[in-house]
Amino acid sequence: MSPLPVELGDGALLRRLRMDDLEDVWSVVEAERERLAVWMPWVEHVRTIEDERRFLETVTADPRGLDGLGLFVEGRFAGGVGMRLDPFGIVADIGYWVASPWEGRGLVTRAVRALLSIAFDELGLHRVTVRAGVENLRSRAIPERLGFTLEGILRGEGRGTGGFYDLAVYGLLEDEWRTGR
Ligand SMILES: CC(C)(COP(=O)(O)OP(=O)(O)OC[C@H]1O[C@@H](n2cnc3c(N)ncnc32)[C@H](O)[C@@H]1OP(=O)(O)O)[C@@H](O)C(=O)NCCC(=O)NCCS
Repeated sequence: MSPLPVELGDGALLRRLRMDDLEDVWSVVEAERERLAVWMPWVEHVRTIEDERRFLETVTADPRGLDGLGLFVEGRFAGGVGMRLDPFGIVADIGYWVASPWEGRGLVTRAVRALLSIAFDELGLHRVTVRAGVENLRSRAIPERLGFTLEGILRGEGRGTGGFYDLAVYGLLEDEWRTGR
């Protein structure tokens, strides 16, 4: 079983989302909607609290799932993190967002580092990827800070309020992670 929840320091916790997080998650998504929608296509599909409930139902259906995690600071929901695994145990892709009051504190970097440990130490994966908008420099800084390699550009693979945009793909292999940490 994955070692969650993980303490990230400074009162921050990474844990699986639960159905009873619904009100908290919904209120943060509502407050941050405009900012998040610039980069994240799911935001336009979460229009009501019922849409949010369906998301939580999906991610909580698998008690071992890793694609519906929450960042909590002093017990308050602060952002979403997810790691989606391929069916063969080779690769996982990590996505993230944090609410603006908690931006710039290293919470997401620490959460992604914790997920890398789960991916490589617990799950025995070979490779982890992060995709970030080419112009989303804050997002790109996270894999860069963690030693990922920029592998290429996926043309038009992202979509936000400004339309389709190019994604920078970052990859980290298991042996690179072991030698780099
Ligand atoms: C992209 C996003 C998640 C980045 O958030 P962030 O707060 O910059 O990332 P972190 O939590 O890792 O914080 C990094 C910052 O904390 C600082 N920091 C402080 N303590 C730190 C620590 N222990 N470890 C790492 N960084 C730390 C870093 O120096 C950095 O600050 P800087 O930007 O001034 O250099 C955030 O901007 C966001 O949610 N954007 C909107 C949604 C989005 O774009 N999601 C990504 C889609 S691909």
